[in-house]
Amino acid sequence: MRKRVSNLAESVGAVVLVHLFASGALAAPQPPTAAQLQTGQRVFTAQCGFCHGRDAMGGETGPDLTKSPLVRDEAAGDRLRAVVRDGRVDKGMPAFRLTDAELAAVVAFVRDQKVKAESPGARRSVSVADLQTGDAEAGRRYFNGAGRCAQCHSPTGDLAGLAARLQGLQLLQRMLYPSNGRGAKVAVDLPSGETVRGALAYRDEFTIALTDDAGRYRSWPAPQVKFKVENPLEAHAEQLGKYTDDDMHNVLAYLQTLR
Ligand code: HEC
Ligand code: HEC
Repeated sequence: MRKRVSNLAESVGAVVLVHLFASGALAAPQPPTAAQLQTGQRVFTAQCGFCHGRDAMGGETGPDLTKSPLVRDEAAGDRLRAVVRDGRVDKGMPAFRLTDAELAAVVAFVRDQKVKAESPGARRSVSVADLQTGDAEAGRRYFNGAGRCAQCHSPTGDLAGLAARLQGLQLLQRMLYPSNGRGAKVAVDLPSGETVRGALAYRDEFTIALTDDAGRYRSWPAPQVKFKVENPLEAHAEQLGKYTDDDMHNVLAYLQTLR
């Protein structure tokens, strides 16, 4: 995943990081700086906003993060980091590779949104109208060019009639993260030296589980085994970090023409 952090944000992040190690918690006791909030908003909009809502208050597919105990409680910092790093792939939360500084900035942004959400006149910012602002021609160019979508897809092949099947946020969600991680495979190395392979059945910060070839569900405490997940949607997970807001709206506008 590309890193797009300005030097200023890096140094702000470094200060936060020192604090993280000192306290073991995610949040700094000082209020976040404007630069940190700006970084947080940029990362959040690019990578989290389409599922959790640009205002972090919940989208079509992701919960309201301003109400999440993982974000609210400073002591839950480790668990929050684990959710973002590992995802909850089976439930539609992809894994992300954010630096600690980026994640701290995202958390600062979400907490700030929580304050705003509780103030009068707050309103939601995910709207269907917002999904209609893209430029379809620019989206077509991105699809065939920089986005490299045409490597795997064709508007007259697998994506023919897509917009007739899916509209609005549903189409956006499918475009961003198509199948909630279904189809991912995992290989688990047990302490005994045995390696067990199968379809990824469950993954969170505590547990890794698979269904083996015999159809048996097997699970292990995630910290006690080594495992490697292979996801056919890796390209989509990576793409989440590459889209600019404009690219995303343009590609969506283009896909909306595939009827
Ligand atoms: C493709 C959609 C999608 C994207 C993108 C996404 N999430 Fe999620 N996220 C989800 C879903 C769905 C859940 C609920 C998972 C569950 O039910 O356990 C979730 C859950 C979470 C939770 C746990 C909330 C709780 O209280 O249990 C956190 C924290 C979180 N997401 C943060 C993020 C951050 C930060 C980003 C961006 C770096 C992000 N998410 C991007 C879909 C998404
Ligand atoms: C390396 C291969 C690869 C690349 C590159 C790729 N995708 Fe995908 N895409 C997939 C796979 C695999 C699926 C899942 C197909 C399924 O679930 O049936 C998928 C599914 C989709 C779907 C849902 C299709 C449906 O029928 O519901 C859309 C929309 C989509 N991709 C759009 C894009 C866009 C836009 C890009 C470029 C920014 C892109 N993809 C890049 C592999 C890729």
